[in-house]
Amino acid sequence: MSLDQGDYSPLKHFVLAKKKISDVFEQLLKYVEESAQFVEGTCTDASLEHVSSRDQLDQIQSYTSKLAIIKEVLARRHMKVAFFGRTSNGKSTVINAMLRDRVLPSGIGHTTNCFLSVEGTDQEKAYLKTEGSEEEQSIKTVNQLAHALHMDESLDAGCQVRVFWPKSKCALLRDDLVLLDSPGTDVTTQLDSWIDKFCLDADVFVLVANSESTLMNTEKHFFHKVNERLSKPNIFILNNRWDASASEPEYMDEVRKQHTDRCISFLCEELKVVDYDQAPNRIFFVSAKEVLNSRMQKAQGMPETGGALAEGFQDRLKEFQCFERRFEETISQSAVKTKFEQHTHRAQQITYNVKAVMDAINIASAEKRVVSLEDREYLMDRLEFVRNQLNLLIEEIKKRIKAITEEVQQQVSSAMGEEICRLSLLVDEFQSDFHPSPHVLKMYKGELLKHVEEGMGKNLAFRCSDAVNASMQSSQKDMIDLMQPLLPPAVQGEVATLVPRGRFQLSYELNCGTLCSDFQEDIAFRFSLGWSALVTRFLGPTNAKRALMLVDNSLQNNLQVARPLAAATTPGSSVSLPQQQEAALTQEELMLTMVNNLASVTSRTSMSVLVVGGVVWRTVGWRLIALSMSMYGMLYLYERLTWTSRAQQRALKRQFVDFASEKLNMIVSFTSANCSHQVQQEMATTFARLCQQVDITQKQLEGEINTLTHKITQLETVQQRSKTLRHKASELEGQLDDFTNHYLRPHLS
Ligand code: GTP
Ligand code: MG
Repeated sequence: MSLDQGDYSPLKHFVLAKKKISDVFEQLLKYVEESAQFVEGTCTDASLEHVSSRDQLDQIQSYTSKLAIIKEVLARRHMKVAFFGRTSNGKSTVINAMLRDRVLPSGIGHTTNCFLSVEGTDQEKAYLKTEGSEEEQSIKTVNQLAHALHMDESLDAGCQVRVFWPKSKCALLRDDLVLLDSPGTDVTTQLDSWIDKFCLDADVFVLVANSESTLMNTEKHFFHKVNERLSKPNIFILNNRWDASASEPEYMDEVRKQHTDRCISFLCEELKVVDYDQAPNRIFFVSAKEVLNSRMQKAQGMPETGGALAEGFQDRLKEFQCFERRFEETISQSAVKTKFEQHTHRAQQITYNVKAVMDAINIASAEKRVVSLEDREYLMDRLEFVRNQLNLLIEEIKKRIKAITEEVQQQVSSAMGEEICRLSLLVDEFQSDFHPSPHVLKMYKGELLKHVEEGMGKNLAFRCSDAVNASMQSSQKDMIDLMQPLLPPAVQGEVATLVPRGRFQLSYELNCGTLCSDFQEDIAFRFSLGWSALVTRFLGPTNAKRALMLVDNSLQNNLQVARPLAAATTPGSSVSLPQQQEAALTQEELMLTMVNNLASVTSRTSMSVLVVGGVVWRTVGWRLIALSMSMYGMLYLYERLTWTSRAQQRALKRQFVDFASEKLNMIVSFTSANCSHQVQQEMATTFARLCQQVDITQKQLEGEINTLTHKITQLETVQQRSKTLRHKASELEGQLDDFTNHYLRPHLS
């Protein structure tokens, strides 16, 4: 099909603009959705400390729905031209001429009885839809539906029938143009509702006038109303049926001038929708009927001028084509502006706002990242400090513990020494029933041991414990003071709970019971001038014991020598031989010692005593001996009488003191070491507890550092992402600016 208007139609301007803006909106919608997702992620992630707010998220989310709606609206956007005029002026014929086919019913009299829109369809077959129904009806019914003569099927004048005409048959319809035919403005009283329903989205109004008469008030009245509702509507005036002028060629120019003046005055003065210089571009003198006929003939392959055509047809055809061109330019310009400008502004606003949000998030995340980096730096320093300090302190505290343990050892050992010296006092304090019988004695000793154990423990505690505790507490306090800065903040305030006061008790564990279990008292009566005592005095305690044993042995031997006389053979005699030899040997030793002692007696003053004794003997004689003997006896008697249980008790206590002192002396170092070990243990426990806390500090710090590292990475991602999204917004802004410059700036046509 050859088209009059050539390859390029100005309508393409709208089509391209629509494509472009739809494309931008598509991108924008995706972008905003992506942004919303991103903001939602940052908003709901508590670890990001709200780099974005709920409001920002709500704002962006609201944009997605708005954009989706606008996108839908844009997709449905088309150019709309509405034809108005009195009945039979040829509105339907003009539309048919433009569509190059008899799409709409036309005829003399009142023909069109409702609004008829014609739009393109991709289908090959034309169809129509009545208002409120999605049913596709055959195009053949258009006559029945829309033709006023077919009253049985007639519709209300305010109704609309949508005619879908194959795009393949008509170039105009390919370019998103919708043409709206209307019933004559003179046949209705519902102009206002028409305007509300059909005219508000129309881009161009064509007033189809009848050049055989003149502009009527009914037509003017309608356009006045339109002009009230819309700002500067685009109005074209077609003076149709201009072929009639051919019959009166002599008045043609005057009539044309008359019509033109009236039209200009109507457009420029009454409606003020166009300037005087532009007005001639809005007024045309045409014959729709001729154009339709010629175009249809041409379409059928017949000469377009075929049939009886009035004179000047070519000029009228040209003028019609000229109208079509002007109309297309105007409608596409206007439609792009009215249908896309507002949305473009909206898109620009949205892009700007989203960009601002991205900026805000970028700044917030950058700031938070810097803060987190600083925090991490601080924590790392602190961790380093804690580690180093702990190593230093371990050495220092070890030294201190060593010092205090040594000190305690010293204290305990000196206290014990003193206590051992004072043991006799302690033993003297002990009072209990005493009787030399073994049973009572055993109980007595048991209680004595208990008394000594308790007393000594008490005294030692009195002497040392306070001092030890004090020095231990002070060094524990020192230790805590040293460690305090390394402890977890939660513990720092209540360090006392780590070292419970008064919990530590030094235990001396003297164990007198086992220590003195082999104590054997000797409380048998011994005369101070008795045999054993004298021997002891001369020979010393050990030799005396031996000597006394020898005496016992020799007595027994004498008995044994005497015994064989009674019993001739006894196995004991053969056994006693080595014993006798041993006895002989020790007898020799004893003799030697006695001689030595005697020699020493002789060698010293004893000699003179003997000499004096001899002199006295000689001078004093038996009387003195008798006196001495009685003295000796008396002394014995005295001593025997004074050897009471009290004396025995005293002796026992003295012996015990000697024995226990010796034993206790032996365990001084052990006990003091034990005590110092307890102290060391206690200190080590405290230290370990503190170290454990320091370990917690380190763990906490490490944990916090890890958290911060994670957060920093996240913030970096957020920062990066917001930056990328910001760039995308800028890029979209660029596209929108391009669109504005290219399609919406008035200087561009
Ligand atoms: P309604 O639908 O009734 O409002 O009328 P309309 O304005 O649609 O007029 P329509 O197109 O139906 O035309 C009315 C009559 O005028 C038809 O018979 C057309 O053939 C005729 N007609 C339309 N245009 C021209 C024209 O330019 N010249 C001549 N001579 N007749 C025309
Ligand atoms: Mg009509």
